[in-house]
Amino acid sequence: MQAIGGPAPVASPDVPEFQTSPGTRDILPPDSARVRQLVSIFAEIVGRAGYGEIVPPMFEDLGVFQRLGEATDVVTKEMYDFVDKGGRHIALRPEQTASVVRAFVQHSPLTPWKVWYYGPNFRYEKPQTGRYRQFDQVGIEVLGVDDPNLDVEVIALAARFYEALGLRQVRLSLNSLGNPDERASYVTALQRYFEANLDALTPESRQTLLKNPLRVLDSKRAEDADVVGAAPQIGSFYSDETAAHFESVCAGLRALDVEFTVTAHLVRGLDYYRRTTFEFAAEALDAAQNAVGGGGRYDGLAEDLGGSATPGIGFALGVDRTILACDAEGVFGAPSLAPSAFVVDTTGGHEALLITAALQRAGLPADRAYENRSMKSQMKAAGRSGAAFAIIIGSDELAAGTVTVRPLAGHAGEDRTQLVVERGDLIDTLRKLIEP
Ligand code: HAM
Repeated sequence: MQAIGGPAPVASPDVPEFQTSPGTRDILPPDSARVRQLVSIFAEIVGRAGYGEIVPPMFEDLGVFQRLGEATDVVTKEMYDFVDKGGRHIALRPEQTASVVRAFVQHSPLTPWKVWYYGPNFRYEKPQTGRYRQFDQVGIEVLGVDDPNLDVEVIALAARFYEALGLRQVRLSLNSLGNPDERASYVTALQRYFEANLDALTPESRQTLLKNPLRVLDSKRAEDADVVGAAPQIGSFYSDETAAHFESVCAGLRALDVEFTVTAHLVRGLDYYRRTTFEFAAEALDAAQNAVGGGGRYDGLAEDLGGSATPGIGFALGVDRTILACDAEGVFGAPSLAPSAFVVDTTGGHEALLITAALQRAGLPADRAYENRSMKSQMKAAGRSGAAFAIIIGSDELAAGTVTVRPLAGHAGEDRTQLVVERGDLIDTLRKLIEP
């Protein structure tokens, strides 16, 4: 097929005509099983804390996401948006907080409303390791509670999740961005400070300053480090109430032994944040892509989306980056997909059909060879599958109503003895062998 407006793809026997589009990947077994396990650990941890799953649609009216802030790259540069056949301006979701809050306003559930989610998000970013155009997040959101204990609960759940995966080098940075008035005064002060120090800023940061002075604090460029380091800090602009809320959050985290660093210059990439904000960085990953998760309060978002004033807080953790961090720390490996039994049938294949179905129905993972191959070829397939046992049925076994159970390399036990068992006893025998 010829790309519209582009050159005809060069056909080559080695390069298939169609490949995943830039920034997207196929997640194949066994990695897909790892993602599934990660999500089920997450679901268990947050489920225990009273969160129910929400599955919002993957696309929404563009306006829902425009509320993320007109000065954010996510809105101005990275949105996958299009006009659908009904003339609606639609966007693929770049994140799920806005969708969750839209759902809250639409359905008016009782508060506190505690939900969790998992699924893909879409951002037109420059693809690189750990930065994709389609990426998965797990996350939670809570609407209707303005209590610092909730901030602590939310942050601690993320920390517990990383711990449950076995990650030990994830660092939590915490900040409060103040309420909107405090934040506005801070932004004005920051603007004045950077304007007075314009010569010390890189051209990129000068551009950022025109759009959002807060984002200049985010600069990772070494040339900006001095001027950013000496910039005013938000803490001097807090009201007593904001300062007390933040102090309670810090005290609660200490009480739960969640380690954190207060990072006065932590700003997040989305504009809806107020007061508590946080980010998790995996130190085992390259600094440019080491943010494995983040979140905070977004107390004004429900109002922005047409609802009544409702406090909200949550986080989202990048599944892809979290798995990269696990690889870097050598933890949370892919689960084994090996079956318990692999049926080798040299009588034509019908017996394998019956035996695998019976084993699977009894809850024992079982696979088989196809196409009536030779015994040698079937045994090779059995070994490749990683199965603990080959269940062999040839003409002798068929006539005698038995099967041969042969331990394979996938069997962890010491005893390598081959057994001949009655077909009716196979399930019980295998169960005993697998879980002695
Ligand atoms: P975010 O910081 O934009 O926040 O994304 C959260 C996490 O998603 C990041 O820390 C990162 O691990 C992952 N992530 C983001 N973009 C990409 C990408 N292009 N490729 C791979 N991973 C990526 C949010 O999305 C907010 N909705 C979080 C939140 C929830 N705040 C309050 N509630």
